[in-house]
Amino acid sequence: NAQSLKKSYSPYFDIGAALGVREANGTEERAFAILEKHFNSLTPENLMKWGSIHPQPDQYNFEPMDRLVELAEKIDARVVGHTLVWHNQTPDWVYKDESGASLSKEALMERMENHIETVVGRYKGRVYGYDVVNEAFFDDGQYRTSKWFGTAGKDFIKRAFIKTNEVDPDTELYYNDYNMWKPEKTDAAIQLAKELREEGIRIDGIGMQGHYGLDSPSLEIIETAIEKIARAGFKVMFTEVDIDVLPNPVNRHGADIDATFPADESYNIYKEGLPEDIQEKLANRYRELFGLFKRHEDKITRVTFWGIHDGGSWLNNWPMPGRTAYPLVIDRNFQEKKDIIEALVQV
Ligand code: XIL
Repeated sequence: NAQSLKKSYSPYFDIGAALGVREANGTEERAFAILEKHFNSLTPENLMKWGSIHPQPDQYNFEPMDRLVELAEKIDARVVGHTLVWHNQTPDWVYKDESGASLSKEALMERMENHIETVVGRYKGRVYGYDVVNEAFFDDGQYRTSKWFGTAGKDFIKRAFIKTNEVDPDTELYYNDYNMWKPEKTDAAIQLAKELREEGIRIDGIGMQGHYGLDSPSLEIIETAIEKIARAGFKVMFTEVDIDVLPNPVNRHGADIDATFPADESYNIYKEGLPEDIQEKLANRYRELFGLFKRHEDKITRVTFWGIHDGGSWLNNWPMPGRTAYPLVIDRNFQEKKDIIEALVQV
């Protein structure tokens, strides 16, 4: 029990994991045991995204999310609603009318508000907080030119927050994004949050996804972002933590794919297992990161891992398929990585 992440960290912040359909319905027993032991917060990895929960105009697919919420209640975990409005995993019909023409701003906003009303309404009182809007900025701090922004400007963000608050005034409301350590991006998100607050629109926190590498970004630059967000008066969450040990064509200092990266499997260098020295680096990186989180426990309310075990991590398939990834603290056989867990529970 001293080896439980949630027992060690619950005095400071919630410890969460993202999970999929198989794990949400509880039939994967090894996943259930891990969830029950280590986590007091659960995020749906995909099953609350628009395309999953609302695949057709008149069709909602609530079943997987219902199971996740029941599972969370069974293990006494809080639920994070991820995510209401995003440019990815959102079907094309959302932006169009019956004739296939692009919706006007008003029509699109109405559709978004109906979606929020239906989803948030169904889980009212059972979801602790929502990633209301996900990834609205580019890395340079400019608003992302998504269909949402293109049609409605930043009003789509304001109206999403207003609506979620209206439907469930007791749930927390977050803005969530990746590379949130980049100063231009952090500043843009804080600026947005302040604008909302000045207009009387509630926003409680800012989520930093936390898809990191072994060496980058630096602890210092992450720390600066934590301090800035907290100083502006918003809660900080690390919402999608994983550490990629493989060579990666996405330059972490810019979202561009490196075109010279090998398109074959030669990048998949640890498919026979992770060498000891890299495992040690991974354990160190986790220890340092959690040390940082712990030092800022007055600002941070949650740290969530993006997945339960290495075998289920999205990094096996992203940015390209066929990667043998090792980003989490539970291995492919659902065994705890003892060196990492032991380091992390010594908070
Ligand atoms: C990812 C899931 O992990 C994958 O299974 C899916 O195929 C694509 O989306 N930022 C987010 C998450 O906010 O929702 C994404 O999740 C990872 C990047």
